[in-house]
Amino acid sequence: MADDSKAVVRPARTVRGVVRIPGDKSISHRYAMLAAIAEGTSRFHNFSAARDCQSTLDCAGQLGCEWKRLDDGVIEVCGMGPRLNAPREALDCGNSGSTMRMLSGILAGQPFTSVLCGDESLSRRPMARIMTPLAKMGAKIDAGEGGRPPLKIQGGRLHSIHYRPEVASAQVKSCVLFAGLFADGETVVEEPLRTRDHGEIALRAFGAEVERKGNAPRIAGGQRLRAIEAHVPGDLSSAAFFLCAAALFPGSQIALPGILMNPTRARLLDILVQMGLKISVAHLEEHHGELIGTVEARGAAWKGAVIAGADTAALIDEIPVLAAVAPYMDGGLEVRDAKELRVKESDRIAAVANNLRKMGAEVEERPDGMRIPGGQHLHGAELDSFGDHRIAMAFAVAALRAEGETTICGADAAGVSYPNFFRELRSVTGG
Ligand code: S3P
Repeated sequence: MADDSKAVVRPARTVRGVVRIPGDKSISHRYAMLAAIAEGTSRFHNFSAARDCQSTLDCAGQLGCEWKRLDDGVIEVCGMGPRLNAPREALDCGNSGSTMRMLSGILAGQPFTSVLCGDESLSRRPMARIMTPLAKMGAKIDAGEGGRPPLKIQGGRLHSIHYRPEVASAQVKSCVLFAGLFADGETVVEEPLRTRDHGEIALRAFGAEVERKGNAPRIAGGQRLRAIEAHVPGDLSSAAFFLCAAALFPGSQIALPGILMNPTRARLLDILVQMGLKISVAHLEEHHGELIGTVEARGAAWKGAVIAGADTAALIDEIPVLAAVAPYMDGGLEVRDAKELRVKESDRIAAVANNLRKMGAEVEERPDGMRIPGGQHLHGAELDSFGDHRIAMAFAVAALRAEGETTICGADAAGVSYPNFFRELRSVTGG
């Protein structure tokens, strides 16, 4: 369905206030999937409001798992134990690569055939990265041309593998570890770079034993999961938009309570501090193995940065917003080793370059990155979200310091991860 929604963003002079960021998307997906195959009823407070996580819950429903949203917004999931029901129709993953890739790990261990499909953007995304390990474990798995969705998975008994993925991907790691629950023996995923570890932490929270040596988590098959009651930390990748907005104006001040502080995600805070944002973190707590804290940030002078290697992998979801505000930094931004950005919900390198140019910025686009000189003045323009939530939100932030009004076409895409984003942005910018 074409999205003809538009959002108008006016220039701001400062960013001030408190924003309660919705629950982390990566954790919400994993909690919902593991709750579906656990024994007992799980309850999740602050579960992500993202459309993507709704896709995961809907797929769980099609697999026979009953879930409901209680009056106070808590999500309750009645676990089915390891055996799900065969779905009557194709499982619609919507825009969500996480749903398709991670759920495939669980479906590979089920004694039935399932089909997974998605929207236009998801139908262009590469699935070979999960098909290869799942086939090695014994699942029969077919895809459309070039390893793109729809996927057809004939699950069954799996055997364990020691898998070394070529791309560093937390979705692939979780997919293989989830499949490992249904395998005989011990499954190991040896990553080229350490990626977010929410899959391992969630598995442990549900009672599984997961060990790790270096960048290689391992799980023994046949472990049963037990339901949990958990609070989902605020999504740091969503918080990134407000932190970058604050960084645009010296004198800004923003407080974000209850944000995820997991070290495999928090590289963003280091880089923002290095660039000049004043950040403090208070009230650190741990919930089911995940760290949470209140982040307070104050805008100050704003230097440039180079993002490469392991930093690129650690900041992969935040690069769009860092790049969108890069022209306002003193030294600009260089992003390297970021080929993966071309196969996200949109080609994020092309989308960023395209929109920045429309705002009058100079950008050098490279096959695996970009260089954006600093000290530039941007003007408002009519921009495209390219159907990508992070592009819609990144350019709403860039628009705050441009001269004149900016219109973001396809702004509704933001709901894929953050349905109330534009309202919250207006509340802290007076827009
Ligand atoms: C995610 C991992 C990353 C990230 C995505 C969420 C996850 O993708 O970009 O938004 O929850 O594991 P890759 O695994 O493809 O790097």
